[in-house]
Amino acid sequence: MKGEFPHFMLKEIYEQPDSVVNTMRGRVDFENNTIKLGGLRTLLTTIRRCRRIIMIACGTSYHSCLATRQIFEELTEIPVSVELASDFLDRRSPVFRDDVCVFVSQSGETADSILALKYCNERGALTVGIVNSVGSTISRMTSCGVHINAGPEIGVASTKAYTSQFVALVMMALILSDDTLSRSERRRDIIQALGNLSDQIKKVLQLNDKIKLMCDDVLADQKSLLLLGRGYQHATALEGALKIKEISYMHSEGVLAGELKHGVLALVDENLPMIVMATRDSLFPKVLSSINQVVARSGNPIIICNEGDGDRFDPKYRTLEVPATVDCLQGVLNVIPLQLISYWLAVRQGIDVDFPRNLAKSVTVE
Ligand code: UD1
Ligand code: BG6
Repeated sequence: MKGEFPHFMLKEIYEQPDSVVNTMRGRVDFENNTIKLGGLRTLLTTIRRCRRIIMIACGTSYHSCLATRQIFEELTEIPVSVELASDFLDRRSPVFRDDVCVFVSQSGETADSILALKYCNERGALTVGIVNSVGSTISRMTSCGVHINAGPEIGVASTKAYTSQFVALVMMALILSDDTLSRSERRRDIIQALGNLSDQIKKVLQLNDKIKLMCDDVLADQKSLLLLGRGYQHATALEGALKIKEISYMHSEGVLAGELKHGVLALVDENLPMIVMATRDSLFPKVLSSINQVVARSGNPIIICNEGDGDRFDPKYRTLEVPATVDCLQGVLNVIPLQLISYWLAVRQGIDVDFPRNLAKSVTVE
């Protein structure tokens, strides 16, 4: 089952060049720049007319919603909110018939998400599932949806499901906006970028040995690890922090880079390890400013940047260079070094990576 890999998690990290292709299989026409999602076909018009989209999920699936919220809003001009299922239910948040509620779940069996789905169904909202497990409860209880076709994910810490959820949600945003001529160029750029993702993921995976050494040199045996990102990369920072907590048991926090000066900066000194997502998008200058704020206080960040940007930073700071893709998909590439960092930090401690303590692959109780 694990093939030549020592753990399912590493196997699933390395499956991502193939799993993202499987998610897109039969759904993306790269010649005509069109998307086809059979599961949404009959309800597309209804979804386009909704008053708002509410994305509801838990854990890593929640982060895939955060990662794609901005492109949804840009392409559809429909307000999008993202909710943690348990908090959404605690608040008994108002839901109406003209809402579309999107439930993202790898297992399709997470109790919090199922309860939230029942709550939304009872209120007459149109419910959409983005699910990996065919025939799961969420897949059956939603009005329609998309199976991400990532294949079975055994490792408790979600990796390939995250990137496939990410791609499936971007495809949903694309198909919801294929009736708007004004965005055809932007949509074409994104669709072409989807076609390059698999090869780019393979390139990122070549950083594995460098990442393993980096974990031994500077990231091991630390009290905490901060991850900074903003815009599209805020979700990446949160997801990376969750991976590190889940399987290496090291405290880690994903921080919105713009919030650095509102408190987090007090933590920064020469001892606090930090990873900054500094790939190129419209917020790149602001992220550079955050890096300057950190180094001015003796911070020593590890910088995830695009290929060719490494030499713009002081050579004393470690960089991980990843290929550049369109801004709304860059998070698919940027998360992979963080998945590998969490894996190697755990393995060096002898942790059972596939079954970390206290956690379950799917929490089927509230
Ligand atoms: C479907 C087939 C696929 C086949 C393809 C051929 C299934 C599961 N999928 O894929 O094997 O190759 O047609 O065109 O038989 N759904 C939900 N909630 C969810 C997920 C899915 O209600 O969370 C529904 C969809 O609305 C759809 C059905 O399940 O009616 C299958 O979804 P999906 O597999 O994504 O559809 P296709 O990609 O068209
Ligand atoms: C947790 C898993 O129990 O549930 C996470 O450990 C996962 O990996 C979260 O992201 C949500 O699960 P699902 O199946 O609803 O995506």
